[in-house]
Amino acid sequence: MQVTMYDLSVIIPTFNEEANIRNIVTEVDDVFLKNGLHGEILVVDDNSSDSTIAIVNELKKTNDNVRILVREKDHGLSQSVADGFSCASSEVFVVIDADFSHPPALIPKMYHEIRAGNDVVIGSRYMEGGGIKKWPLKRRIISVGATFLGRLLFPDVTDPVSGFFAIRKDVVSNAPLKPKGYKILLEVLGKGTWEKDKEIPFESVDRETGSSKLKIRTIIEYAEQVMDITLYSFFHHHSAAWREWKKLLKFGMVGISGILVNMGVLYYLKEYAGFYYLAASFFAIELSILNNFLWNDLWTFRSSGDHKLSSRWYRLVAFHIVSAGGLVINMGILWLLTSIFGVYYLISNLVGILIAFGWNFLVNRRITWTRT
Ligand code: GDD
Ligand code: MN
Repeated sequence: MQVTMYDLSVIIPTFNEEANIRNIVTEVDDVFLKNGLHGEILVVDDNSSDSTIAIVNELKKTNDNVRILVREKDHGLSQSVADGFSCASSEVFVVIDADFSHPPALIPKMYHEIRAGNDVVIGSRYMEGGGIKKWPLKRRIISVGATFLGRLLFPDVTDPVSGFFAIRKDVVSNAPLKPKGYKILLEVLGKGTWEKDKEIPFESVDRETGSSKLKIRTIIEYAEQVMDITLYSFFHHHSAAWREWKKLLKFGMVGISGILVNMGVLYYLKEYAGFYYLAASFFAIELSILNNFLWNDLWTFRSSGDHKLSSRWYRLVAFHIVSAGGLVINMGILWLLTSIFGVYYLISNLVGILIAFGWNFLVNRRITWTRT
């Protein structure tokens, strides 16, 4: 019996790609050869009506590392990639589009990053060195919106909806994926088992012909997917999104401790040190900001790895600026709801506090305690 052990499996989902399929398979195989990789190429086709399948079958005659899986039901890109995960015969999977939006030359780098201990390696368009070429404005706006939503769940990932990524097999081998739509990576990040991820920048180029099949339904489906992953994370505490909820919870607890510091210092300075109450409040606010900063820096965000703002002093300054913004938001909403809409001022203030809290968390997470 002959056992072939591949180093990696490159999964190429296709639907009517007769114009590209020969070139992409050949180029991926070339990349294997030039880099001494023993790789499998798994085309997952949704029963294309053009000659995609025939071309792959022809390529199979000369390349015994090429396979094709033809799907007859449950048409869809994400479903196809998920089927590819179950069929691939190695421990490392790379997913790449057939239309040359993604450069095959990056495959070896992705593979080596997995071998170096990363669970997920993502080709990112939204980090320094990455980009998008030739995309119409409408597509860019939708993509930025989708990315923003995805980043709420995975703030350290700059491109959680990229179609170009690598994973270790066991990230998904027990994951209850509910593949739907186009965003299989988000599903993998949400349901898979992983700790370490790495992003590699790349410049995405759109296909020369054809138009985007994006519809309103696709956007709604995406919002449903984000909700589904959110719910999943509440009940599965090994999931990556749960790690983020824990940070939010800690951030909230630190915030409450800050209120206590603020009140305590205000009371002490006014009653025992003879300060005018507004002067006392100034010091009380500053001390509560320092209190919150220290707890967040040493506790809430300690596990985030290397921070982009590498010096604690930079983070302290950033935290101050963000907090000042939070103060303005809090007071602005208090004024707006009370003076303009006639809401009872304590209710207005509560709304203001909650929105300022959301602002403080999200902006600090993206700037003060973001990863390099
Ligand atoms: N099997 C299968 N079934 N493959 C499909 C299907 C399908 O229903 N629809 C598209 N594909 C294949 C295409 O043949 C191509 O190889 C790849 O999936 C991407 O399809 P495109 O139609 O070129 O997608 P896109 O350019 O709009 O979207 C790309 O960017 C998104 C991020 O903005 C893809 O890379 C997505 O994966 C990515 O999420
Ligand atoms: Mn494309």
